[in-house]
Amino acid sequence: MSDQNRRVAFLNEMGLGPVWSRRGAATLLEQDDAPADAPVPVISSVTASAPVEKELRVAENTSSAWADVAPAKIAAISPVVTKPTIPVTEVAQMDWEQLKSVVSTCTQCDLCKSRTQTVFGVGDQKARWLFVGEGPGRNEDFQGLPFVGPAGKLLDNMFVAMGMKRGENTYIANIVKCRPTDSNKRDRPPAGEESRSCMPYLERQIALINPTVIVALGKTAALSLLKLDPATPVSKLRGTVHRYAGLPVIVTYHPAYLLRSPADKGKAWADLCLAMQTYTGSADA
Ligand code: URA
Repeated sequence: MSDQNRRVAFLNEMGLGPVWSRRGAATLLEQDDAPADAPVPVISSVTASAPVEKELRVAENTSSAWADVAPAKIAAISPVVTKPTIPVTEVAQMDWEQLKSVVSTCTQCDLCKSRTQTVFGVGDQKARWLFVGEGPGRNEDFQGLPFVGPAGKLLDNMFVAMGMKRGENTYIANIVKCRPTDSNKRDRPPAGEESRSCMPYLERQIALINPTVIVALGKTAALSLLKLDPATPVSKLRGTVHRYAGLPVIVTYHPAYLLRSPADKGKAWADLCLAMQTYTGSADA
């Protein structure tokens, strides 16, 4: 397929109509970004954070019946019981099953108090492509899967435009595994501390997958992965191949932002083209 045809297909695929649900400040920040006319000619490099003497708190075993209980009831009747902490260095040694288990009962930050369930991530554990979002929203919190709402539908269409499919050579994860909400129980971006608390889990997921390319979906994902100043706009990060622990990271807009700002879908397509070029240029392709 020529670039032009692929672009047309992509834009068609992304013309989903007004089915966007607002996530809050992160999308607003992206909306406020200056246009990315000139790519930043810098390759930044970030290594996975070295093990620190920090510990993760993990709840006593919670049953899978949580998934069937309304969130308000969980908050009311299920106080989180904590047990001694798990060192981050242990997380860095875990296999998939151990990691899933620890995440599912995590009480490292207050997001655990209002979640229905954790959203670990989904896809091929040997995927060459890793897509990282911000955190679960309402739909994801109910289903326990990432990107299952309108933004997820757009993400699936982005995969199609790239000649890919959810779950086939792709893995989708988030910066935080529990849904962040504001005082009105609406979705919000995770706070810096919440993102940092959860980062060891994503770091371990990345180490286990060892993807060829990481696509950071939106500001929260990009800034957390690249450990950049929170004031950095997405527009300044686009068009550059960044590095996380030596792996290439391409930054693009969050699908929820694109649903709200369809004029930027062309820029997102340019980012995905850069990601595909990076993938093709790698030894793994
Ligand atoms: N937005 C995200 O960043 N992640 C999800 O899983 C869903 C919506």
